[in-house]
Amino acid sequence: MTQTPSQPLRVVQFSTGHVGEHSLRHIIESPHLELVGLHASNPTKIGRDAAELCGLDAPTGVVATDDRDALVALGADCVLYTAQGETRPREVLEDLTAFLAAGTNVVSTALIWLIHPAHGEAWLREPLEAACREGGATMLVTGIDPGFSGDVLPLAAMRLSQRVDKVTVQEIFDYATYDDAEFTGVTFGFGQHADAEPPVLFWPGVLASTWGGLVHGLADALGVEVEELRESHDTWVTPERIDCAMMTVEPGHVAAIRFGVEGLVGGEPVIVMEHVNRLTEAAAPDWPYPPAGHPGVHRVLVEGRPGIEVNVHLEPGGDTNLGGIVATAATAVNAVPAVCAAAPGLIGQQDLPLAQAQGLMRGPMRG
Ligand SMILES: NC(=O)c1ccc[n+]([C@@H]2O[C@H](COP(=O)([O-])OP(=O)(O)OC[C@H]3O[C@@H](n4cnc5c(N)ncnc54)[C@H](OP(=O)(O)O)[C@@H]3O)[C@@H](O)[C@H]2O)c1
Repeated sequence: MTQTPSQPLRVVQFSTGHVGEHSLRHIIESPHLELVGLHASNPTKIGRDAAELCGLDAPTGVVATDDRDALVALGADCVLYTAQGETRPREVLEDLTAFLAAGTNVVSTALIWLIHPAHGEAWLREPLEAACREGGATMLVTGIDPGFSGDVLPLAAMRLSQRVDKVTVQEIFDYATYDDAEFTGVTFGFGQHADAEPPVLFWPGVLASTWGGLVHGLADALGVEVEELRESHDTWVTPERIDCAMMTVEPGHVAAIRFGVEGLVGGEPVIVMEHVNRLTEAAAPDWPYPPAGHPGVHRVLVEGRPGIEVNVHLEPGGDTNLGGIVATAATAVNAVPAVCAAAPGLIGQQDLPLAQAQGLMRGPMRG
């Protein structure tokens, strides 16, 4: 178990976007963390108090800046990096190597290709490893999917197994309430014409580089070797106009996608990561749905003895997409004490303790 730090850990929050707003709030509210700096790139946010940027009332005295080097110079224990990463990896590498080389640990939701660092590509991994060595610092990339549903959850489930024949990890989610047309919409190809070029997610190798690390991670944990990663994808085109918070989809345009990465062992697909993502319940009626009454599920199916099914529903009865963003931020913030206590280098979930719940019960229950 990670020890409760004797002094609050000094943390910089980097970005105030979808995930960043919630990690900022979590840091401010945590008894074990102290917010010492805040980055924002948006000019309308610079100079504003952190509390205002995450919907809290009491000012923190920490105001947003776009001066990365000034934040590095604070010598914080950790930077919580939630800026958009996949569209601007070179800039993100510059930011992260600056913090690491100065001795500041990093927990990032960006650069999701590094969730399982041993299987990350060298052009990303090597500069970060060098910066970790230079600063004696540690870096973790985390989130919910990837970061929890394809690693923490199946690893916990397999503690119940006598024999495992196949592991399948699924995200089946209605993204209708997720207001992110610019990144998720474009990357996943929602709203594009049926005959348009495939979205970036379906370019050869992209699914394997994003979810394949999870397949390899489970294979490592099971002590088997994956011979091949096999990608698959499909789209569903709506016959009727669909209006939702993500976007409006005209008839003849894409309103649902499904994709997967299969890890072959002994010629069989035995470790599988699958997504079904639709815009509104009406989309792709023949594809799998979450259990009745839920707009989304993160699911682990373990075939073997015994068979195991784990279904995770975020914010039941509420906005599951918001629940997913809050949970993504929480996985990152909750990992900060363990990452600060870990040995230097690029690490993954397998290097951290399962219990990361210190400080989560607040108010009268707080010890
Ligand atoms: N593994 C998972 O489960 C999971 C889930 C969700 C997200 N993610 C990842 O987490 C990251 C953040 O996601 P998000 O949904 O919060 O993204 P987002 O809302 O699209 O962007 C986050 C923030 O990035 C900052 N930013 C954008 N362009 C920038 C630039 N040129 N320079 C500096 N900062 C810039 C902005 O911060 P300011 O507004 O403060 O200027 C923006 O609000 C992404 O890389 C995403 O892939 C992972």
